[in-house]
Amino acid sequence: MGDVVTVEQFMRFALYHPRVGYYVRHVRGVGPRGDFATAPSLSPILGIAVARWLAGHGRGNRLFRPWHVIEVGAGDGSLALALSNALGPLARARLSYHIVEVSHPLREIQMRRLRGRRFRWHDDMNAALAACRGRATIVANEVADAFPAVQWAWSAGRWREVGVRLGPGHPEEVLLEPDLERARRWCPDRVRLPGHPAEGDRFEMHLSYAEWLASWVPALSEGAILTMDYGGENLPAQPHGSIRAYWHHQSLRGTDAYLRPGHQDLTADVDFSDLRRWGEMQGLRTEWTGPQGEFLRRWVPDRARDSISAFLTDPAGAGGAFRVLDQRRAAVR
Ligand SMILES: C[S@@+](CC[C@H](N)C(=O)[O-])C[C@H]1O[C@@H](n2cnc3c(N)ncnc32)[C@H](O)[C@@H]1O
Repeated sequence: MGDVVTVEQFMRFALYHPRVGYYVRHVRGVGPRGDFATAPSLSPILGIAVARWLAGHGRGNRLFRPWHVIEVGAGDGSLALALSNALGPLARARLSYHIVEVSHPLREIQMRRLRGRRFRWHDDMNAALAACRGRATIVANEVADAFPAVQWAWSAGRWREVGVRLGPGHPEEVLLEPDLERARRWCPDRVRLPGHPAEGDRFEMHLSYAEWLASWVPALSEGAILTMDYGGENLPAQPHGSIRAYWHHQSLRGTDAYLRPGHQDLTADVDFSDLRRWGEMQGLRTEWTGPQGEFLRRWVPDRARDSISAFLTDPAGAGGAFRVLDQRRAAVR
């Protein structure tokens, strides 16, 4: 016996419960000495690339006087710091940098790290957008993968939703009836059949991210959204799916991912074809999408000499495993 919840409900509880959620309460830090390392926590190269991209697409655009940048989920503040350092003094003086962060421990780290600079914190995207009067460039690195994901499994000729039975022993997986209406709304093509699945094959849909986007993108009247994360386009179903937990830099898969709720990070690969479609459903135009390595080579052609920058750029390393999506909203005149 024991309570059964969907994987998505489990992730929402384990990561975001206001009192016990991993991100809200327990995350200790980002970077080699923190709970997990991300590109900005390892090297300033991504911040330099984003600063140049920002200056490139903002040139001559009245929207960017002053430049309102909203970073979602700023981790330990590394991207904010690298981006602001990479801008020249004149551009930096015009930069108005907003951070939307749900994590109390990370917000404290960010405030310490970015003290004395012009940064403002907000609790949610609508508050940040209101402060920018709807005109902003939004930047999010490794945020979508941290949203609760729905996991589907192919079983006896149809898709079922994966759930977890929680009890006194080891967590067990169970197969549940999926919410087809919700999935059809956001992922109509994926509900049909991604490829020819074998018994047990799984894939994830970040439907909570689609719903989150729909809650604030209508308030973006002009600007851009730059999304960076690991994943790919049209991700196929695969034997174990991509959900995994991180516990002291160790990756845990299968039912071990559901141990220690609130103390392990949980994540799933991001399908960028979904992200593209969700933006287009909100009237955004896809300006560019491609591997992170291509983005870094385009905007920072003079770098990538040190080993970390080379790894982040390498198509066989993080440069290929991570992707970038640039979506735009032009002003209606
Ligand atoms: C995997 S960490 C990435 C941190 C940082 N962007 C980096 O690259 O180092 C995910 C971040 O997203 C934040 N986050 C998750 N959901 C959020 C939401 N709905 N609004 C704002 N921040 C969120 C977390 O608190 C955390 O800072």
